[in-house]
Amino acid sequence: MGEGISDYTRYIVDLRRHMWLEGVETELRRLIWQIAVTGKYISAKIHESNRKLAGFRNIYGEEQLSLDRSSDEILKNQLQNSGFVREYASEEQDSVVQIGKGHEKYYITADPLDGSSLVDTNLAIGTIIGIHREPILSRGRDSMVAALYITYGPLITMIYSAGTGAHEFVLNREGEYVLSQENVRMDERGSIYSPGGLRKDCTDGHIKYLEYLESEGYKLRYSGGFVPDFNQVLIKRGGVFTYPALKKSPNGKLRLLFELQPMAFIMEQAGGMATNGKEDILSLKVTEIDQRSPVYIGSRFEVEKAREFL
Ligand code: F6P
Ligand code: MN
Repeated sequence: MGEGISDYTRYIVDLRRHMWLEGVETELRRLIWQIAVTGKYISAKIHESNRKLAGFRNIYGEEQLSLDRSSDEILKNQLQNSGFVREYASEEQDSVVQIGKGHEKYYITADPLDGSSLVDTNLAIGTIIGIHREPILSRGRDSMVAALYITYGPLITMIYSAGTGAHEFVLNREGEYVLSQENVRMDERGSIYSPGGLRKDCTDGHIKYLEYLESEGYKLRYSGGFVPDFNQVLIKRGGVFTYPALKKSPNGKLRLLFELQPMAFIMEQAGGMATNGKEDILSLKVTEIDQRSPVYIGSRFEVEKAREFL
């Protein structure tokens, strides 16, 4: 892809034009754009919380919604107003919420503010979105048409895939998402690893896998936020993020619908892989909205390697 974007103008291509050049269908294009814009509102909310960190109090003495709850509210309202979304499933809701009239095309999954507990440490946090054309209790591979995530860090970036590659945009000072990397492609192998879970709780196979990576000189990169930790593997073009099965929680920690499927969709589109150690994340059947799964996600070599140890 990229035809029509000359090298000279490549870096100023904004999100709407890019999706149009990608051939993304109109409604999906509008939906992705709307979600990206919502990221700006969520970011404003995060900045508001600075006031609390700086010791300001709400002058009305009102109970403030937590940041993840208010991000969820913002996102749900925006999606409802878009007119393209039939159902909304969010990490912040107990069940799937019907937000459309019933004729809309898309079903959305959301982790509205992943890593929200990291705000006070000023580490990056993010929003993760899956876009499905079929009801979400299915296999990601059968129902997903797009995914995106937004990182709120020193820069605000948005990475999306609508099934033809993964592309990174950065929010500029004028408040537009401008193309920063088109067709992010993973190398066959990388040099960083990002392992969740305490070693004392991990299985022997997983520990041997970590020891293998360490003996090969992989560098540790783990902030405790899935979005930035995943983003580092993607943007550096290689390595692996894992949150494994633990002895006491064989399905690990991360949620299949809200966290893993969207990132797996993007990673595959970038030429990498995502498995639970054996099967592809996108092949797993989802039966519960809060279903969890172990995950190995990153470049092909490291993800395939995990299989040998497990
Ligand atoms: O949403 C769950 C989450 O906060 C992820 O963002 C992150 O990858 C993980 O949990 C961190 O878990 P732990 O604190 O066990 O390392
Ligand atoms: Mn999360």
